[in-house]
Amino acid sequence: FIAPTKDSGYPLIIFSHGMGAFRTLYSAFCMELASHGFVVAVPEHRDGSAAATCFCKQGESQLTHEPLEEEWIPHRQIEEGEKEFYVRNCQVHQRVSECTRVLRILQEVTAGQIVPNILPDGLDLMTLKGSINMSRVAVMGHSFGGATAVLALAKETQFRCAVALDAWMFPLEHDFYPKAQGPVFFINAEKFQTMESVNLMKKICAQHEQSRIITVLGSVHRSQTDFAFVAGSWIGKFFSTQTRGSLDPYEGQEIMVRAMLAFLQKHLDLKEDYGQWDSLIEGIGPSLTPGAPRHLSSL
Ligand SMILES: *[C@@H]1O[C@H](CO)[C@@H](O)[C@H](O)[C@H]1NC(C)=O
Repeated sequence: FIAPTKDSGYPLIIFSHGMGAFRTLYSAFCMELASHGFVVAVPEHRDGSAAATCFCKQGESQLTHEPLEEEWIPHRQIEEGEKEFYVRNCQVHQRVSECTRVLRILQEVTAGQIVPNILPDGLDLMTLKGSINMSRVAVMGHSFGGATAVLALAKETQFRCAVALDAWMFPLEHDFYPKAQGPVFFINAEKFQTMESVNLMKKICAQHEQSRIITVLGSVHRSQTDFAFVAGSWIGKFFSTQTRGSLDPYEGQEIMVRAMLAFLQKHLDLKEDYGQWDSLIEGIGPSLTPGAPRHLSSL
């Protein structure tokens, strides 16, 4: 998703999708952010956590103009007897290296190096030359992607901050690796988290004084995906109890986007007017509460 042209270089967000999801499932959020002048890059992960994904093998086809060979990666289930943590922990580390690879490619592209796009109808990456300010890069994600964002911030110093939407904390080691370089903004839905996951978030927040946890009341885990907006169709009715909380999805999105923009302005040093929504970062505002919902906050 690319914003309209601007000379000084756009800030960049790398967005990581959730388990069983795919790169286009977050178009509502990503387009909203792009409309505010961010370049938003959304990789589809190849760790087996996507719904299914495919990539094109480069081989010699580039030279001979043969059709590209597609290779599919199906969704990987946990086998009987397998320890889920070890599988998920490997996956989250792979996801982080994929986010970092996207960062490196965009860095080359914005520096004017020629990076071929092997997809025949793909975006000409040269159009991005000089368009990104590489000092203003954030990582963001939903669910498994939220955990990916948290780990990516700890492992890659070029990420200045992370936004974790209802992060699924299970894949992360509890003894958290290098100290986070920047702040994490945890935006949780009302029902998905457990006391254990909230405690891990608090532990991570203790590493940086600008990190925050807020909860969007009346929202559910899928409120942060495009599923929240398909209410009219049969699929929306089918999923309605899971996809919609009591909060109107458009209102929910507006609150979350404003909170994100305020946070990103602060930590990417943007010169916009998003400071008007600073109170949302503290969990103060309509349908928001600071920290976790009360039943998870006893510790
Ligand atoms: C890029 O971002 C940095 C850090 O916020 C800022 O100091 C610099 O002026 C920006 N560069 C341009 C060309 O806008």
